[in-house]
Amino acid sequence: MMKKPINRFMGCPVELGSPLRVPHFAWPLWGITWSGSKEFANLVEQSERAYRSEWDGTTVRNHEEIAKASKLAGLKDANGKLNEKVAEVALNVIASHKSEQINILDVGTGSGATALAVWSQLCDEARRRTRWVFLDPAKQALMEAKQAALTAGLAAHQLDLLPSRDLDAFPYLSDKFDVVLAVASIHHHAYLSPVLSDLAQCLKPEGFLIVGDWFNGLSLHPARVLALLEKMKWKDREEYLKAFIEQFPASTNDIEEEASDEDRCADEQIAAFWLAYSNIVESAERPLRVLEGHRRIEHYIGGLKKAGLHTPGRLPSQNIGNPCFLIPNSSLLAVLTAVK
Ligand SMILES: C[S@@+](CC[C@H](N)C(=O)[O-])C[C@H]1O[C@@H](n2cnc3c(N)ncnc32)[C@H](O)[C@@H]1O
Repeated sequence: MMKKPINRFMGCPVELGSPLRVPHFAWPLWGITWSGSKEFANLVEQSERAYRSEWDGTTVRNHEEIAKASKLAGLKDANGKLNEKVAEVALNVIASHKSEQINILDVGTGSGATALAVWSQLCDEARRRTRWVFLDPAKQALMEAKQAALTAGLAAHQLDLLPSRDLDAFPYLSDKFDVVLAVASIHHHAYLSPVLSDLAQCLKPEGFLIVGDWFNGLSLHPARVLALLEKMKWKDREEYLKAFIEQFPASTNDIEEEASDEDRCADEQIAAFWLAYSNIVESAERPLRVLEGHRRIEHYIGGLKKAGLHTPGRLPSQNIGNPCFLIPNSSLLAVLTAVK
């Protein structure tokens, strides 16, 4: 059962979004409870619907605003950095691949930054061997990605577009890919296990899954979100905060989760990002929502293991640790590679 979510009202400079979007194991702290697997499945379905409502809002402008807020928060171009590191890892994987054709799936392609970062690193011979599937439910963004890829030299016959939600497409993609890329995309799920199992299914034996994301605990506890909102200034702030506390009483509780120094740093950095975003959000066509499925990297590592994938401590033939953290003393931005 869940109370009606509070949304962007009373002038709050950021949109919260439905608490159903947060990682499912944090739902009880957000007042969402269930009894039995049927009720749980219903909540997961509602949660997926809550994400669906923002799909076609993904635009180049959104990405520019993420980059701007990242820079203002002292994170440089965080998504750009993730894509650069993913490209470095992918380059080595592709270069050491012996087969004539290398099939690559880009999950959550958006307007193409991840695929283009990888493509730009490849030599002509490696480029020629690649075949790509761009997957994203945001059709407009996919068209932009296609155009950008063709302009960068990808031939039309090397590319398939899949305008779909990942979970809907995965059953048709079993055992097809040598490399799966997922940058800032798979956190769009409250319940990750089916997604990770399906991703594992998409890989051929010995295939590589390369995930780049923002790992943090903001949505894992309403007290962190309350602390963030308290740092923002707007006219009807007191009324809004009162409503927030009424709706999410756990927001005034102590946080019991054990977090490392690096995790605490990540939580401060994500809060700084949202503060910066709250100052530029007026220009957003459709604002991002604060409550998302971001979680700590351990949750991904555990989930990948359950899905039958192996996460080596270092990447074969590369001098790169795995996971590879991009900011010193922080677990916020990381690239995590898993092998089938
Ligand atoms: C922040 S963008 C990242 C795009 C690109 N990978 C990059 O790094 O620039 C996240 C993308 O994930 C897509 N997305 C959200 N939910 C998804 C889902 N269930 N399946 C596939 N893609 C999804 C969004 O539409 C969006 O284009």
